[in-house]
Amino acid sequence: VNGVLELPVVVNVLYNTPEQNISDRQIQSQLDVLNEDFAATNRDLFTTNTYNDVKSGDIKIRFVLTQVIRKHTTITAFSTNNAMKYAKRGGIDATSPETSLNMWVCNLGGGILGYAQFPGGNKATDGVVINTLAFGRGGGFGLYTDYDLGRTATHEVGHYFNLRHIWGDRQCGNDYVDDTPLHYTYNFGCPPANKISTCDGGIEMTMNYMDYTDDACMYMFTKGQALRVQATYAIGGPRESLAR
Ligand code: ARG
Ligand code: ZN
Ligand code: CA
Repeated sequence: VNGVLELPVVVNVLYNTPEQNISDRQIQSQLDVLNEDFAATNRDLFTTNTYNDVKSGDIKIRFVLTQVIRKHTTITAFSTNNAMKYAKRGGIDATSPETSLNMWVCNLGGGILGYAQFPGGNKATDGVVINTLAFGRGGGFGLYTDYDLGRTATHEVGHYFNLRHIWGDRQCGNDYVDDTPLHYTYNFGCPPANKISTCDGGIEMTMNYMDYTDDACMYMFTKGQALRVQATYAIGGPRESLAR
């Protein structure tokens, strides 16, 4: 409708301890972040004016929370082996993955913040997984200090819509997006403004959601990334079933 993708979101909450059974407020705060970041209405969009010319504008996805499923699990820490996506393995089975985005919120061991499945994979495991301590935005939820603005989900949903890491997962690698610059590798923390790339002397886009910087220091997608996301759910794209 009007070129806007209304995307049903199912949040699967897995808790071993009572604190991991997060509040509806924490869940809603994460939906708010996704809606803001993908519409480029996030308040920190102009933290710097570097790369203003390629900032995405509204990507036109509305994330609509349709279901929250909660389950106690005996698993104390999950890993990236997808167990959280199977009831038989202490997780919750995906709900309507052809037409909905499934998000699993659970304790991920090893300090993992989250991970995603790219388009084209097994439907049973489709969606994104976010560590309970990096899910949502704000104080009061006990989130990791540097990952308390909900950007882990923004990054993972970027992958879900076929976006690659901005450094192309190799030194000066390719992310298949024309308007993102070459990055030597990932950046952590909050890099100084106008960090020069050793690939070609350009300025690295460390504020892009597809880098590894702190939540407070990533605040944009580009127009090229927006086109790649939209091509993913367009008719003929690998997630066309979302557009129905
Ligand atoms: N390490 C994770 C991944 O590669 C997510 C990193 C998210 N970064 C953040 N500032 N929240 O998918
Ligand atoms: Zn990533
Ligand atoms: Ca690029």
